[in-house]
Amino acid sequence: MRVALGVGGGIAAYKAAELARLLAERGAAVEVIMTAAAQQFVRPLTFAALTGRRVITALFPNEEADALTAAIEHIRVAQENDLLLVAPATADLMAKFARGIADDFLTTLYLAFRGPVLLAPAMNVNMWHHPATQENLGVLRARGHRIIGPGEGTLACGMAGPGRMAEPEEIAEIVFAALSRRRDLEGETVLVTAGPTREALDPVRYLSNRSSGKMGYALAQAALERGAEVILISGPVHLAPPAGAKVVRVETAVEMRRAVLEHLEPATIIVKAAAVADYHVARVPSHKLKKTAARISLELEPTPDILAELGQKKGDRLLIGFAAETENLREEARRKLASKNCDMIVANLVGPEGAAFESDDNEVVLALATGEFIEVPRASKREIADRIFDEALKLRLALHASR
Ligand code: PMT
Repeated sequence: MRVALGVGGGIAAYKAAELARLLAERGAAVEVIMTAAAQQFVRPLTFAALTGRRVITALFPNEEADALTAAIEHIRVAQENDLLLVAPATADLMAKFARGIADDFLTTLYLAFRGPVLLAPAMNVNMWHHPATQENLGVLRARGHRIIGPGEGTLACGMAGPGRMAEPEEIAEIVFAALSRRRDLEGETVLVTAGPTREALDPVRYLSNRSSGKMGYALAQAALERGAEVILISGPVHLAPPAGAKVVRVETAVEMRRAVLEHLEPATIIVKAAAVADYHVARVPSHKLKKTAARISLELEPTPDILAELGQKKGDRLLIGFAAETENLREEARRKLASKNCDMIVANLVGPEGAAFESDDNEVVLALATGEFIEVPRASKREIADRIFDEALKLRLALHASR
């Protein structure tokens, strides 16, 4: 287990030394990268002594260094490590990561890294609440990165509120949990559908819904990090696709059905998180509808039910559907599980009380083919995604055992 530990410049950098010690003590090979600001708080020698390895302190460490080696060192670190942990993740680092600014070793490494990224923010409470930081946080979460903390309490600046870096023990636990399940989807091909569909009314107007794609993209990211091949069939969204996924972009329910069926063969697990329109205009006029004083009505026809069709064709594949409901979550999940021949339904509440559409978090009930229900409390969509795969793998074993 190899961890690249990026240390940002904040008073919490001293806690990163304890974190490095805990990780190394529990068997991880820890390669520390310190920003210039971090070195104002703690000396590299502290980390070198705790990890038994040279600490990286600059992109171009000194003039005598072999220029070529220095120029590709961040690629080596990106390739050799299983996980990138940044603690403390300062407001500045989060902003640079969110925007892709690569002006030192750590930010360059971040762009080159393809594995799971965990960030433990630490900063002043006002800096944490600033819309710029919150916006960057949203971008990083949507990219599938795990944000640990920050905790609340009295901060080094004397103010109280969120901003304290999570405790090293808590961070180390999360790192080892992430590392230990990292490759449990190796050998699987996971087909994920995400986002809304758009159903044209005329050449300029369409019917759609509020799906942002965040749930589906989090599933794709989680599957990739756990070693799966991922095919992501995505409706129109504003998210960057996770690196390493085969992405197929579609617009309508009919296109999504076609893409799913074309990519069904290699899939071993199918997760249908997309919010597919249930109705469309079957014959879209080729001219823009003209505005008049008269009322108009739309004649809509049902779209193909892709999930139900997959239920008939799934064979040995694990089929996981979603249910977006405004009430009776368990009953509706159970009904969809049976009527669409799924192995699992992930039911989430929508409407004023639910957090399913557009938000970074979700709260779901998993209805399993074994008859069980599992409540998953509110957590980031990335954490929910991991839980769905945890339960899916257990479910497959249970279903095989009962055959
Ligand atoms: O994208 P986000 O903003 O992150 O929001 C996430 C989400 C709310 C979209 C997601 O968590 C979710 O609930 N997705 C399913 C939404 C939905 O369409 O639910 P449904 O109950 O209408 O459909 C049930 C299932 O049938 C879904 O798996 C859906 O993909 C599938 N379906 C629906 C209609 C259709 N014609 N074909 C389908 O395959």
